[in-house]
Amino acid sequence: MKSFKAIASGGSRSKPSYSRIIDRKDSSDDDYREGRSSTTTTTTREKKKLHDDKSSNMESMTRLMDLARPERHLLAFSAIFMAFSSAVSLAVPSFSGKIIDLSIGSNQKGDDEDEDEQSPFTLLLGLLGIMTLSGFFGFFRILWQAQAGHRLVARLRRHLYASIITQDKAFFDATPQGDLISRLASDADLVQSAVTDKALGLLRNVVVSVGAVGLLFYTSISLALISVAILPPIALAARMVGRRMRDRQKQVRELHASATSLVEQALTCITTVQQFVAEEFEVQQYNKAINEAHVQGIQNTKLQALFRSVMQLVVNLALLCVLGYGGMLVSQGQLTPGDLASFVMYSVMMGGNVSGISTMYIDLMKAIAAANRVFEIMDREPAIPASPMVLAAESSPEIELLMVPPTIEREATKSFDRRDTLKMDPFEDIELGDMSSSIIKKDPVPLSVNIENVTFSYPTRSDSKVLNGLNLSIGAGQVLAVVGGSGAGKSTIASLLTRLYDPDSGSIQMGTDQILDLDPQQVRHNVGIVVQEPLLFPTTIEANIRYGSPHATEEQVREAARLAFVLDFADKFPEGLQTVVGARGTQLSGGQKQRVAVARCILKNPPIVIFDEATSALDAESESQVQRAIDTACQGRTVIMIAHRLSTIRNADTIAVLRDGQVSELGSFDELMEKQAGAFRQLMEKQLVHE
Ligand SMILES: Nc1ncnc2c1ncn2[C@@H]1O[C@H](COP(=O)(O)OP(=O)(O)O)[C@@H](O)[C@H]1O
Ligand SMILES: [Mg+2]
Repeated sequence: MKSFKAIASGGSRSKPSYSRIIDRKDSSDDDYREGRSSTTTTTTREKKKLHDDKSSNMESMTRLMDLARPERHLLAFSAIFMAFSSAVSLAVPSFSGKIIDLSIGSNQKGDDEDEDEQSPFTLLLGLLGIMTLSGFFGFFRILWQAQAGHRLVARLRRHLYASIITQDKAFFDATPQGDLISRLASDADLVQSAVTDKALGLLRNVVVSVGAVGLLFYTSISLALISVAILPPIALAARMVGRRMRDRQKQVRELHASATSLVEQALTCITTVQQFVAEEFEVQQYNKAINEAHVQGIQNTKLQALFRSVMQLVVNLALLCVLGYGGMLVSQGQLTPGDLASFVMYSVMMGGNVSGISTMYIDLMKAIAAANRVFEIMDREPAIPASPMVLAAESSPEIELLMVPPTIEREATKSFDRRDTLKMDPFEDIELGDMSSSIIKKDPVPLSVNIENVTFSYPTRSDSKVLNGLNLSIGAGQVLAVVGGSGAGKSTIASLLTRLYDPDSGSIQMGTDQILDLDPQQVRHNVGIVVQEPLLFPTTIEANIRYGSPHATEEQVREAARLAFVLDFADKFPEGLQTVVGARGTQLSGGQKQRVAVARCILKNPPIVIFDEATSALDAESESQVQRAIDTACQGRTVIMIAHRLSTIRNADTIAVLRDGQVSELGSFDELMEKQAGAFRQLMEKQLVHE
């Protein structure tokens, strides 16, 4: 199957980096600035930009058409039916003219041989017939067009979402979530309307305009010349306005996206907002952002209104000329009143459809701005690639169930084994790896970890080195404690071990494999992690634990819950494991949340576990409960314990003290405590004072 991504991405497949996003941001700002100044000067740079615009417009159009390709049958039938109803509307004026002439009995030209065979009544009947037929076809046209549109937008969203969710962490560090959500929601809608409503509308306008112009010339050449004189200026104006509109619309969409981001940020931190009485501030921020978008939107509407009303005026003026000159022709007997009437109707029709073309063109330009925002994400190849399985899900609706988080899946497939879906889908040969192998009882083989000479800086802060020649190794099944001041880079190590980021240089080995050679998803299956503030999904405790292994049986989930002492508190709730935990787990206490996170990790059953200050945020009592859960989770695995509490560190096989992005001391607890002026001893002394 040709992957959608390949179609959608068109030309460039060069591996984008974080800096490419930044470049894009810069260039969009440039566009904006240039857009604003282009009225005053025309520099070479702008000329070049116009040329680029042309080719990128063409590129976007081609891609839009590619998007609609699977719906081509529906769209083609719609188009045929539309052509039919357009033909009907073209026939109406000519019929009307004839009926008028027949009714008033005037035949000033004296050359109509059919006159005797046709009565106004038969003509009226004929007209009624084709009008009814046209209405009937219209129903199917509208239905099919809408169907094509719905299918297209659903497919677009599916692929876009898969592209979003498979991006690397650096991308999410740099891109506000609200921006992504607005691309998924409103931009996708605009793209859909461009490919269906607008494209077909444009087709209709073109067909009717061409037909009307032809019939104008057929009726009277000299009159027709007056009518079509308005076309060139309208086309020119539409082009100019359309291009400006696209640039401006891009900016409006970006402003809307940043307003959405503000909402998303405030809602994520709603407790903080409330406790700091910041509602008014947040509302003001939002109002400001919305106002900017609003002001820009009004500007665009003004431009559009001006364009449309001037165009209407031009069309009407042409009509006046036609009426004046046509009246003269009628009085001279060169034209029948019926002919003049149908001529005027064709003129009105042509005017309406030509201005329709220009409006549609402008709308299409607006949609291209939105489409480009969608394509931008779909084209981006994550620096750390997604596994073949995720990509397969992206191009196959059948496999989608597999990728649905357990929260949703649980509802959808209660009595439904997901492995059955696998058998039915065309991607049977895809390795599910550890996803299907998590049976708690089956012990994983612990893996050694070897970090060699790793340097790393975060893509968003490339000039500050977080790790600087880090060397660290942990034998299989050993416990390594990592200590160090806040910001020393402890959590960064956990991120590198789960391939959220890749090191700038140096190597990380897991067992016998370099992790860069492994599928990132495989690496992540190898590592279970519990962080200081675990985030839970706003669903049940059970679903949250199941996230560790979607295929787990109910007993396995319950067993994991028991091992992590989740049952100790969950069984006291009336709903037990089915208790809903609220947004990000806020309906549980810190210690309870932490135990759910540990249970999730136990169910995942990875050979390596990392506890990143997992008990730091807890009071002494919850800490000891969580610690017991952690002890269970550590059994038979390689353990990296990022901690500062003496109690957690004491039992480690090795302790590494992190400082300036390197290991400054390494040894057992006793060895390190012996060093009188050692960094570890100092840290511990400080710690002991606190405890
Ligand atoms: N996603 C990120 N983007 C940029 N800088 C980060 C990111 N995460 C952490 N940092 C920075 O990297 C340094 C190390 O952070 P971290 O590894 O979280 O420290 P800690 O040892 O406290 O866990 C800090 O200076 C922090 O500000
Ligand atoms: Mg940390």
